[in-house]
Amino acid sequence: MAYSVLTENMCGIVAYTGNKPASPILIDGLRVLEYRGYDSAGIYVPGSGCYKAVGSVQDLVKALPGMLPGHAGIGHTRWATHGQPSTVNAHPHHDRAKAVWLVHNGIIENYTELRERLAREGHTFVSDTDTEVLAHLVGDAYERIHDLPAAVVEALALVDGTYGIAVMAEDMPDTIVTARFGSPIAIGIKEGEYIIASDAAPIVRHTRDVLYLKDGEYAVLSPEGYGVFSFKHEVLNRAPETVSYNIEDVQKGGHPHFMLKEILEIPTVLENTARGRIVMREGNAKLGGLTDAADILRETKCMIIVGCGSAYYAGMVGKLLIEDLTGIPVQVEVGSEFRNRPIVTKEGTTLVAVSQSGETADTLGSVREAKRRGIPTIGIVNVVGSTIARETDVGIYNHAGPEIGVASTKAFLSQLEVLALFALYLGRLRGLTQARGAEFAMEILRLPEKARTILSRREKIRRLAGEYLGYDDFLYIGRGYNLPTAYEGALKLKEVSYVHAEGYGAGEMKHGPIAMIDEVFPTVAIMPSDSTYAKMRSNVEEIRARNGPVIAVATEGNTAIQDLVDDVIYIPDTKECLTPILANIPLQLFAYYTGIMRGLNVDRPRNLAKSVTVE
Ligand code: G6P
Repeated sequence: MAYSVLTENMCGIVAYTGNKPASPILIDGLRVLEYRGYDSAGIYVPGSGCYKAVGSVQDLVKALPGMLPGHAGIGHTRWATHGQPSTVNAHPHHDRAKAVWLVHNGIIENYTELRERLAREGHTFVSDTDTEVLAHLVGDAYERIHDLPAAVVEALALVDGTYGIAVMAEDMPDTIVTARFGSPIAIGIKEGEYIIASDAAPIVRHTRDVLYLKDGEYAVLSPEGYGVFSFKHEVLNRAPETVSYNIEDVQKGGHPHFMLKEILEIPTVLENTARGRIVMREGNAKLGGLTDAADILRETKCMIIVGCGSAYYAGMVGKLLIEDLTGIPVQVEVGSEFRNRPIVTKEGTTLVAVSQSGETADTLGSVREAKRRGIPTIGIVNVVGSTIARETDVGIYNHAGPEIGVASTKAFLSQLEVLALFALYLGRLRGLTQARGAEFAMEILRLPEKARTILSRREKIRRLAGEYLGYDDFLYIGRGYNLPTAYEGALKLKEVSYVHAEGYGAGEMKHGPIAMIDEVFPTVAIMPSDSTYAKMRSNVEEIRARNGPVIAVATEGNTAIQDLVDDVIYIPDTKECLTPILANIPLQLFAYYTGIMRGLNVDRPRNLAKSVTVE
């Protein structure tokens, strides 16, 4: 299996200095941070050493010899890292003299250049991570100037990217330097004690006085006191604020539910999923994990995409994208069907498995079935190191960060984006012109901003959900690229609000569903201004003629539609093949608001599991 992993943006950092033994506080903090996702964890306590383990924090506890002496230390839970989950890749990382240790949340974008430069200067590296490069840079500076804060700032000046870091030196066992650019750092302040973390969740059980570093700031902390400084070493007068959350509230980032938090993360996820993966001058996508499979992909005659639930619907969009950009015929299968019936495949078939968790039993069973038949397998997986990621031959990670809400939201959007990048890559391998590729890639890069626009109008969607709260049945219709959007929109409503909803091809309305339509059976019509619009409009007219209420998801600027339907949700204009990435967002919000207005636990709907690991 080959995958290329680029982000490290959801890791959890914890650090402590004070008058108590540090290791239990670090372990406890890491446990609270596990909700951010983890594939490995580690701690470093000066004088006692560094301990790391693959797996959960509990695995790390097993690796410890007991409580470590030492009243200061740093710890980390790792998720979606450079390189596979392993103890060498787990944080903390050290410089070549093992004098400086650090934990990092974020991504150093120019780490390859920095690593090559350091290698030329004689540095050797033990891990595949970007963080180790930063540790070496700080270590070099510290050796020269023996001033840890100054060494940290000097090293950070060399890196491009994002970071929240906590750094210690073996010979300054009480002092922690922490700095932030792009990845959050919260500092809990107590008399003579400080606890630093990626968010306030591990802090609030110790103190409610929390200081949040801003980008371009660092802090130096020891039991004697602390100071906050700009990267120009100016002293900043920053006072802590009092946080009143409980732990779960903090984990939700101040949002009432994980589902909303994760929907609001969509623009960032769309950025992270595409980060470093578009080479504009070549009009191409760079998908490191697929490099080993380029020859197979150039020759592939047909593809099968397999997934379950939302991942299956993502696969349906993927089929259209791949067929449009490459001409390769694609068949989409739900895992439970593919693995349980004799499927006829021909020479030159490749299987693509789409799965957020990488653990869904039917998707995994399909991968195994394909391998048994000698079919090459590609994974599109969010959870690094998961079983599907390990068992597929090659793959692409989503970089969506951990998803806690049971009903997939941000991860589904990232699946669509990965499939778009994959289709672009395949297209360029097989004759798609550079100009068309570049145009497509450019539009992918515009999606995060467009997603932000949709989210900024969520109040309107909340109002709509309130107005439609009395209805017990909904029909979602679409065509072409947005037929899967209709399926997924209906699924989302069912999952989190338990309201009956059906997704249907608009062209099939007259073969049945239209019989159900009356004034108490509303329809959500996904009808952007694209090649399907005229036909969608006719379908909506048929529904209106039968007094069915209609909410349209339409393209901004289409004011004429307001005369036809009851309510309109506008999405920004984009290429037809990318419209599902925008059109799904308001439907997720509509389901969310409907669920909460019905008083339901949208994060954990009844009878559902985040990852279905049984047949
Ligand atoms: C469960 C989740 C869905 C998800 C599906 C497939 O049913 O509730 O949101 O789409 O599993 O999960 P996977 O992890 O394979 O993407």
